Amino acid sequence: SAATATHIQRNPAYSELSSDDVSYFKSVLGETGVVLDADRVAVANVDWMGKYRGASQLLLLPKSTAEVSKILSYCNTRRLAVVPQGGNTGLVGGSVPVYDEVIVGLAGMDKIISFDNVNGILTCEAGCVLENLSTFVENEGFIMPLDLGAKGSCHIGGNISTNAGGLRFIRYGSLHGNVLGLEVVLADGTILDMLTTLRKDNTGYDLKHLFIGSEGSLGIVTKVSVLTPAKLPSTNVAFLSCNDYTSCQKLLLAARRSLGGILSAFEFMDHHCIDLAMRHLEGVQNPLPASPYKFYVLIETTGSDESYDKTKLEAFLLRSMEDGLVADGVIAQDISQASNFWRIREGISEASVKVGAVYKYDLSIPVEKLYDIVEEMRCRLGDSVEVLGYGHLGDGNLHLNILSSKYDDNTLAQIEPFVYEWTSKQRGSISAEHGLGLMKAEKIHYSKSPEAVQLMASIKKLLDPNSILNPYKVLPQSIL
Ligand code: FAD
Ligand code: MLT
Ligand code: ZN
Repeated sequence: SAATATHIQRNPAYSELSSDDVSYFKSVLGETGVVLDADRVAVANVDWMGKYRGASQLLLLPKSTAEVSKILSYCNTRRLAVVPQGGNTGLVGGSVPVYDEVIVGLAGMDKIISFDNVNGILTCEAGCVLENLSTFVENEGFIMPLDLGAKGSCHIGGNISTNAGGLRFIRYGSLHGNVLGLEVVLADGTILDMLTTLRKDNTGYDLKHLFIGSEGSLGIVTKVSVLTPAKLPSTNVAFLSCNDYTSCQKLLLAARRSLGGILSAFEFMDHHCIDLAMRHLEGVQNPLPASPYKFYVLIETTGSDESYDKTKLEAFLLRSMEDGLVADGVIAQDISQASNFWRIREGISEASVKVGAVYKYDLSIPVEKLYDIVEEMRCRLGDSVEVLGYGHLGDGNLHLNILSSKYDDNTLAQIEPFVYEWTSKQRGSISAEHGLGLMKAEKIHYSKSPEAVQLMASIKKLLDPNSILNPYKVLPQSIL
């Protein structure tokens, strides 16, 4: 990871892995739970973008909370650093080692424990893949409160550890609201049982929130209980185009006013995203090929009345065209058209990495200003790179991606710290949903006060005094 973490030195306080350590892990996990095979460990050392690469020699695959507890208790005593890993789809370098940290993968903990089909409460192990959980709860007449392009690989434990946002956030809100309980193993091996399934519980500090979004730096999430909304029978998806950003904004307000309760997604993409998707994704079609519009918006509604919901969306589209907010638009007539619309939006990340190097910024910015940074960035960087703006407009969350054939320091110096300073000036967030990871551990001050960062460091020291959990990530090295 020299290219991405040149400023960080390996912390000499950590031990190096010995053959005795490996023997101990085998005694706890058996041969299959201790992966030394170079090819398999290599996969776990590199992130989804191929941007961050560690040098771990060991991947551990526990099958129970008790095994996770034994691993951490041992690593804590031995001062072996650990990286918790879920589906390894994280985008900020948080899920892979920086040096030789032991990787603790949760993939072996993928059991559904229970489902309360009266209240829609799912309890499962942290290593369950999100898409499998979706399929399971949908068969019971419910849906997961979150959905994202990485659903086929990401784990619910990884989602919770990053506090993933995604495509349903506008309707169902954050995991801070939807997670009812957690079981977490602390750095010293203590098992913290907070696995309640109650909707309301105000007894003392709500500790689970510390672990939601803490990116594996405070403990390993082993079990979760999640509130799942009812699955509603009617879903409609529209793909629209706008000639300018102001129209996108007005359209969002109009959608909130007239679609109100049935609005379930409001995603936007500029035309650079569409061009890229058409170039790199197989089997997708531009739903609005007639002319090159500047912006595209995907609107989804989900409700309980098939004909009423569709009429509502059609009327909204018609009115928005008459008002001049929408240049052109189409409503999906069947599931395959709807999934084509979604494939374009969800496929932007996959298409981006095919170009070579991606500099990814995930920003919360007041909606009025949100697209300004994309245009400023385009002016700054010129034609040698491709600048994309897309994201969860309904949540004020911009994804600014800068694509280049390869990573280089000059380009990076043009982008940073400019993008962070700009965002900070708008009182925005430098991480709306992806987290800080390795990429932004040293940048937290752009979005949080010194007092807040100091308190975070105190909490980290309290829960993980030897700093074995996910080192070099989330918080600045200097204060730990
Ligand atoms: P990993 O990548 O394995 O890990 C992420 C972080 O969580 C790491 O710091 C890791 O140490 C920690 N961690 C993982 N599991 C545990 C555990 N059990 N206990 C403690 N710590 C743990 N993110 C969004 O927010 N919204 C999106 O819309 C979105 N779309 C995406 C689309 C694509 C195509 C891709 C590749 C990524 C996308 N992401 C998105 C980012 C990523 O998918 C999410 O951050 C996801 O929640 C990570 O889950 P994971 O299981 O892959 O975790
Ligand atoms: C998205 O919304 O597509 C995700 O957050 C992933 C990404 O930005 O690459
Ligand atoms: Zn996103």
